[in-house]
Amino acid sequence: MNLLEIVTKVRAFLEENGRISYRMLRRQFDLDDEALEDIKDELIEVQQVAADEGGKVLVWLGSPDTRAVTDSRRMPEGVGAPEAAGMPERNAASYTPAHLADRILSSRSAIEGERKQVTVLFADVTSSMEIAEQLGAETWHGILDEFFKILAERVHRYEGTVNQYTGDGIMALFGAPISHEDHAQRACYAAFELRELLAEHAREVKRQHGVNFSTRFGLNSGDVVVGKIGDDLRMDYTAQGHTVGLASRMQDLASPNTIYLAGPTAQLVHGYFDLLDLGTFPIKGVAEPVPVSELRGVSKSRTRFDVSRLRGLTNFVGRNSDMDMLEAALAQAQVGNGQVVGVVADAGTGKSRLCFEFLERCRARGTRTFQGNCVAHGRNISLLPILQVFREYYGVDAHDADRLAREKIAGRMLLFDESYRAVLPLLFELLCVPDPDNPVPTMSAEERQRSLFGVLRGLVQRPPVDDTPVTLIEDLTGSTPPARPGSKSGSTRSPAVRIC
Ligand SMILES: Nc1ncnc2c1ncn2[C@@H]1O[C@H](COP(=O)(O)OP(=O)(O)OP(=O)(O)O)[C@@H](O)[C@H]1O
Ligand SMILES: [Mg+2]
Repeated sequence: MNLLEIVTKVRAFLEENGRISYRMLRRQFDLDDEALEDIKDELIEVQQVAADEGGKVLVWLGSPDTRAVTDSRRMPEGVGAPEAAGMPERNAASYTPAHLADRILSSRSAIEGERKQVTVLFADVTSSMEIAEQLGAETWHGILDEFFKILAERVHRYEGTVNQYTGDGIMALFGAPISHEDHAQRACYAAFELRELLAEHAREVKRQHGVNFSTRFGLNSGDVVVGKIGDDLRMDYTAQGHTVGLASRMQDLASPNTIYLAGPTAQLVHGYFDLLDLGTFPIKGVAEPVPVSELRGVSKSRTRFDVSRLRGLTNFVGRNSDMDMLEAALAQAQVGNGQVVGVVADAGTGKSRLCFEFLERCRARGTRTFQGNCVAHGRNISLLPILQVFREYYGVDAHDADRLAREKIAGRMLLFDESYRAVLPLLFELLCVPDPDNPVPTMSAEERQRSLFGVLRGLVQRPPVDDTPVTLIEDLTGSTPPARPGSKSGSTRSPAVRIC
């Protein structure tokens, strides 16, 4: 295809779809920098039908004779052009939940100018131009709308922000504007879950329209200096080194439905996820070949201590009196006086190790143990540690099909007490395996909570005879104010171990 034919094709695509990223154009038509500039010049300066948006996207303006008098190029980015093309406006603010938007806007003056460590996530649709051509603009917009909704919801769940909509994908940031020490983990959880959710979306698209819809993801971590944050939440930033460019290149490299991580992200999440080392790749503009890994799954390690355990633990020493106290509490529980023990100490002084060793002793004696973890990235998932504990309690595995999970839950509950039959739909819903044939009856949020907590309390307070399980909730202080020894909740009823 010669350059003029490409210009005609791009113009037709823009007219129908409103916008396209330069990255997409480059890839679709195998363009070098010079050819891309020529096409931009032709459409922006000569034909005057398109405008540049932020150096990254080409936006349809309409042909000059039919265009309104207002010149959209003078309007703020993302405002005039898509509407002129009859497309829904996509900007960060229109999808961001109010609580996140408030947090960003209320602290933006403090954030602007800060240097932050971030993880950048790129996601985009493979072969979107061909699909768009096959389906026509209206159908394609409907599919993309759902796609963007899924992306934005999951990015926001992990408190990332969508910084840019690229026409057929997004660029999201984790760690800025809202700071998160575990930004790389958050980005990987989001990408991993998105891959699953979008596979579901793709199945639906295939069923309804007969086309293959697939997404690929690229991630990298590094520093950015935060610039101005607009009212639409769009954040200007100055990337340090290759932080953003490499994430984009990872996405370019990735095959459909895969997630590629550049070396810096892989290092940060090592141990928390199953990674496949793909070796090093030469990347244009980067002096050294870049190590690339594919994100395959979530590993069983959920906490920092789990990861350090994988590297091997030194011999456990001392802590006799702390261990005695835990044993004494267990002995009390075993004669019917349930106990809650708070373990409180400065960071890194051995809380997790003490609890791990205690649980190991319990397991060696045949006492059942359960564990839930209050991880920072799980704060927006209600009752996450409780869900983990109860999934373990019912023997539900992450890979179990919903039906099998429901069978396990119902089996245990009904053996325990036939009267629990009525609350099974509520439990199924809590544990994310709702029964489509047996939905939760309509009830208010308060009723729902009261009913659910009643069931959970019943299970905790009346464990089966001869079975006193030990449940560990790790890093509870990360989620709620710590119960200090001597405080009301930590003194008379609940023994406490204070480690020094
Ligand atoms: N009694 C001990 N004997 C040997 N090693 C220990 C002991 N206590 C802690 N450690 C080691 O010290 C390191 C830090 O301990 P740990 O992770 O339990 O601290 P923590 O108080 O849980 O930290 P954080 O506040 O970060 O959760 C771990 O590698 C652990 O194995
Ligand atoms: Mg710990």
